[in-house]
Amino acid sequence: MNFSSRLLSWYAQNGRQLPWRGKVNPYNVWISEIILQQTRIEQGIGYYYRFIDAFPDVRTLAEAPLDKVLRLWQGLGYYSRARNLHQAAGDIVNNLNGVLPDSYAGWLKIKGVGSYTAAAIASIAFKEPVPALDGNACRVFSRIFALKEVMDTGKGKKAFRELALEVMDEQNPGDFNQAVMDFGALVCKPVSPLCRECLFNRECLAFLQKKVQHFPVRKKKPAQRDRYFHYFYFYYPDQNKQTVFFIYKRTGNDIWKNLYELPLLETPDPLLPNDLTSLDWWKKFFPDGKGYTFTHAPVFFRHLLTHQKIHANFYAVRVNPSKTNTFEKAFEKTNREAFDALPKSGLTLRYLKTAGKAGKTGQI
Ligand code: ADE
Repeated sequence: MNFSSRLLSWYAQNGRQLPWRGKVNPYNVWISEIILQQTRIEQGIGYYYRFIDAFPDVRTLAEAPLDKVLRLWQGLGYYSRARNLHQAAGDIVNNLNGVLPDSYAGWLKIKGVGSYTAAAIASIAFKEPVPALDGNACRVFSRIFALKEVMDTGKGKKAFRELALEVMDEQNPGDFNQAVMDFGALVCKPVSPLCRECLFNRECLAFLQKKVQHFPVRKKKPAQRDRYFHYFYFYYPDQNKQTVFFIYKRTGNDIWKNLYELPLLETPDPLLPNDLTSLDWWKKFFPDGKGYTFTHAPVFFRHLLTHQKIHANFYAVRVNPSKTNTFEKAFEKTNREAFDALPKSGLTLRYLKTAGKAGKTGQI
């Protein structure tokens, strides 16, 4: 038996039961593949069900307010995926009469869909024989065939694609691609792969050469950028003794676009708490140096993203309501209930979770 038929019979017995498998619908496959782009399956499944429940087809997704889509995505991270899905749904309704593309080339034109995702959707939903090559698939191929190319170079991509095309089952490309994904997740794992029980351990070149850990061959990682964020929970009790505080919606074109968070100051270096109140940013809000009290010790989080390490401090500051003119111009006033209903960045969510605990960070 050849590589693909052995892999497919392994998949028939060991493949994972996932909600978007079996009777396939291109819309559901598309949503599942976008969710799984940067998310583990176990985490993604709940989001997938909630998403499909709220937006069962491309029209409901296109017609939904972006805030609602982002709110459902909250906690998954990489929010550009949700913004792109929403925009793509609008494009499909407006330009393609609401009909999803039915080919690899067609999917490549859809916002947020790259070659891996286009290949996954086209092969799973339309049986088009295109290999879906992400890091997991390339790890499997690189080990079994001792392919030394670096996958994220043009030359490497071509080499992996040619190899995968040669070994893939053209009758069942969707099953083949998903079999590779599951095999990579369950057996040919990044660390501690299960080589002893692997069905390919008599021919896997990396295993035979005792070089499993040398594959896949990687390019040197770019350095991570350190960023220093200072978030402020500026709050006061209003006439009804309800705590109100200030937030804003991020508009800059970055990964947090359109999400809400507490007022933020970013500094090029770490700050000593005592330096904070002498910055121009601070003086803009408190020109006479009065009207605020730091009520709790700052809460610190380190937040790791692909190319960034964020060092975030959250400060709880009670402000004098007569001094909030400048705030009202720069930020929106809210309360906890209203804020809960808005889509928020992951860091803000982490703070809200801690803030509930034993008055640690104020009454938020
Ligand atoms: N990772 C991304 N897409 C997947 C799928 N369809 N099955 C298993 N793992 C995946």
